[in-house]
Amino acid sequence: MSPLPELLSNRLGDALAKVCGDRLPAGFVAPVTAAADTRFGDYQSNAAMVLAKQVGTNPRELAAAAVEGLELGELCEPAEIAGPGFINFRVRPGHLAGRLSEMLGDERLGVPAATSPLKLLVDFSSPNVAKPMHIGHIRSTVIGDCIARVARFLGHGVVADNHIGDWGTPIGQVLYGWKNHLDREAFEAAPTAELLRLYQKVKAEFESDPEVEKACLEETVKLQSGDTENRALWEQFIEITGRAGGETYRRLDVHFDTTLGESFYDDRLAPLVEKLLADGIAEESDGAVCVFSDGELDPKDDPLLVQRDGEWRGVPCLIRKRDGGFTYATTDIATVDYRVEEERADQVLYVVDDRQSLHFRQIFEVARQRGIAADLRHVAFGKILGDDRKPFKTRSGEVPSLDSVLDEAVERARAVVDDKSSALSEEERAEVAERIGIGAVKYAELSQNRASDYIFSWDKMLSLQGNTAPYLINAYVRTRAIFRKLDGAQPDFGGGLELAEDAERTLAIKLCQYAETVPAVLVDHRPNLLATYLYELAQTFHSFYERCPVLSSEGVTRDTRLALCELCSRVLKHGLGLLGIAPPERM
Ligand code: ARG
Repeated sequence: MSPLPELLSNRLGDALAKVCGDRLPAGFVAPVTAAADTRFGDYQSNAAMVLAKQVGTNPRELAAAAVEGLELGELCEPAEIAGPGFINFRVRPGHLAGRLSEMLGDERLGVPAATSPLKLLVDFSSPNVAKPMHIGHIRSTVIGDCIARVARFLGHGVVADNHIGDWGTPIGQVLYGWKNHLDREAFEAAPTAELLRLYQKVKAEFESDPEVEKACLEETVKLQSGDTENRALWEQFIEITGRAGGETYRRLDVHFDTTLGESFYDDRLAPLVEKLLADGIAEESDGAVCVFSDGELDPKDDPLLVQRDGEWRGVPCLIRKRDGGFTYATTDIATVDYRVEEERADQVLYVVDDRQSLHFRQIFEVARQRGIAADLRHVAFGKILGDDRKPFKTRSGEVPSLDSVLDEAVERARAVVDDKSSALSEEERAEVAERIGIGAVKYAELSQNRASDYIFSWDKMLSLQGNTAPYLINAYVRTRAIFRKLDGAQPDFGGGLELAEDAERTLAIKLCQYAETVPAVLVDHRPNLLATYLYELAQTFHSFYERCPVLSSEGVTRDTRLALCELCSRVLKHGLGLLGIAPPERM
């Protein structure tokens, strides 16, 4: 069965076609959305208003004529018209009950697979060598992983690619630091911390001392031209950071299909620049090579132009520096080619913070100039802020490492678990705290609109109330507890269901809406749509559970209520799974 909005849109489209005849614009799709105010219905359409404007008639009259001809059969009560021409639909309990029965036998829980599967490459996490992941990486890692999970579930071919920064200037800085400031003992004790210290120390010197800057760039050039000592050190750095990152990814249950760092593309850069020159895409300018605006775009949409003092000036994309070195942009252009030609990606998603938005707009513009058809998108996100609305820092003023954030989350979750779950063994409590702590950090991220900055708050994310992981996990655990009380006597869902109470019907509708929610996540790459849905589902479940006794009811009422609990349980677990969160069975 198709999701309800699709079904209703088709029926309404047919009715509007009958009324409008050949005045109906080709390809018209009647928009149907979940009703904002459920007192008037479950779904709503403004199709008559949109269409009336296009064909030049009165919207209410058009709505009335469409409703006349609507064939809703067993699906809905007769549609109603409201306000200037909204059409409201209320789904019949019998139809909902049928859907629930179908969902019970469906592993996909009613979510249709994509009709035209794509090959999707998701570039996410992508930390830099010698710099352990910090809190800033949580956003890319968690959002990217969620998008990859949803896309896989919808049947798309997915390549999760960790585009490690392992080749540019920062490596030269660490090499220089290694040769001039290494503290052997500190390195033996805590290699990643020592590499970070070297990087930070040299980075500060690099910015103030031209001698150091020159020396670092020389180290980078030596590495890139194959110097054996630098190569060996570089391999060691990659090994060390890779090992540490691997631990963190394991803990987060995040997986990659490939980890092709920037260095992988190195031997493609020189020929790429030559090819862009030969094709007339790039030009020499002052000894460097750049891609300029080709004047095809409206200047305000052209990332290779900027307005200054009322005039449009070029901000070219630099792809070969005067000293012959290549840039971050050159690597990304080469990476586009590899992903399109070798990986055969139809769509590439770059899950990277919004400070890099000009960089990606330029990369995509160069691709457009070259006639590359793949759909390239920057899935951008804002900053994580502290209570003071400044970028989140530790008390001593540092950007906290991702591992330290996860440790603290688990420790704090442990306090919640000790308080709530005295019946669990020590081992179970540790396991539950790990799941809640990691889940809380992930969920705090995924429940935000990714475009905005958000405030990192331990108290909020670990609260058992509100839009949090502990709240959702608790709702899931409650559904499981109901079935444990059955003592292994499995309920029989085969006998047909009957929705009598409002609270049952409301929960049923919500459950059916899983079908349209999951695909919506990929439209604009917004995991928060799924998070919000799960939160509303948990709330709807709680009010159902308060109003409708389950185990003490009888006959078809009991079967129906158990079925609602069972589906809630499955949808919560599955939905949390798509967010990358594994709820425990009890707490
Ligand atoms: N390593 C980069 C950073 O930490 C992010 C890489 C994003 N991906 C890309 N293809 N440029 O800023």
